[in-house]
Amino acid sequence: MYLTREERKMLDGEEGYAVKKSMEILVALGEIFGAEKLIKISSVQVAGVSYHNLGDAGLEFLNELAKDGKVKVLTTLNPAGMDLEDWKKLGISEDFAKKQNLVIDAFRKMGIIISCTCTPYLIGNLPRYGEHIAWSESSAVTFANSVIGAMTNREGGPSALAAAFVGKTPCYGLHLEENRVPDVHVDVKVDLEKFSDWGALGYCIGKEAENKIPFITGIKDASIDELKSFCASVVTYGSKPLFYIKGLTPGSEKQKIPKEKITIKNEDIREAYENINDDIDEINFVCIGCPHCSINEIAEVAESLKDKKILPNVEFWVATSRPIKQLADVRGYTKIIEDAGGKFACDTCLAVAPLKGRFKAVATTSAKGCFYSRGTNEMKTKLGDIKECVNAAVSGRWS
Ligand code: F3S
Repeated sequence: MYLTREERKMLDGEEGYAVKKSMEILVALGEIFGAEKLIKISSVQVAGVSYHNLGDAGLEFLNELAKDGKVKVLTTLNPAGMDLEDWKKLGISEDFAKKQNLVIDAFRKMGIIISCTCTPYLIGNLPRYGEHIAWSESSAVTFANSVIGAMTNREGGPSALAAAFVGKTPCYGLHLEENRVPDVHVDVKVDLEKFSDWGALGYCIGKEAENKIPFITGIKDASIDELKSFCASVVTYGSKPLFYIKGLTPGSEKQKIPKEKITIKNEDIREAYENINDDIDEINFVCIGCPHCSINEIAEVAESLKDKKILPNVEFWVATSRPIKQLADVRGYTKIIEDAGGKFACDTCLAVAPLKGRFKAVATTSAKGCFYSRGTNEMKTKLGDIKECVNAAVSGRWS
């Protein structure tokens, strides 16, 4: 890979340890994937923030980099393993909180914004169309590529961090127009009736379009929240972190319809629900906010919970970023949700908090949330819209 004189100096250690290590990572990656050069990026989203996933080895790695590493571009963080301000209410242990805070201290020293959300685009890390960025977190990467039209590969935590210290990333994969051409036509002949249908649709398309870029027809309209949910699901279940929806997402007008065609029908959506939903009735955990809730979603949760009481044996989380929670405070949604017995889980989520063994069954609006709850946290899962999840929280049953 070609390196400029300035980049060589970074690789030789002239800008210190963190930049040298970062250049080693970026050069190794570039060489594996055949990049010709590094390109400038405008922002970074770093995943791998929860101590639950990092462990002591990860914390040590971050502390080494934090000794002299400072990010060169706008850099935000994915969710951590706990609410950073009120972790006790979520049942997090003191030992875990201590370690998680050390992880956060290391990121803070590097100059990273402690945003702790997987929806950075809702709180100020919003690239423009065609901009090169280096993001990790699969749902955010898919949203950035597909809904915004920015250009990023699906980075891992270390490669995103390396890009932040250097301000550049290797130019390969989805940074090149020729690799952003769709390769499978997905014709959607489905009545998308409720919010969770978007997660189910992502499940169907992800499974069918395994490691391909879907060009989707048949969808006339979609809200940002629906697209956010679809992004999380389609990439979790198998597609590349980029899709086009004809007439809705940027760049779709420039693409030719691929020859390979699949059709998604109502019976596929039914089957998706059958596969995602376990055969259980009793629910003891409800989580809304995967990806993290927008203010509209929180408004809907509050509306559904008005004058209701969540059962004492059901844990109810609204996972969101702290700035969105502050909007919810001002709008009075927080009070309604907390009066009903719900909790805000800022800075964290159902997949990265240490939840294994705590809950038997979760109800959620997110197909991605079901994937991780079942796989990583060994819970039974139910996928439904906000009303169905709220209903499970107040009745303890799935109906
Ligand atoms: Fe975000 Fe956690 Fe879901 S990172 S997309 S809320 S699994």
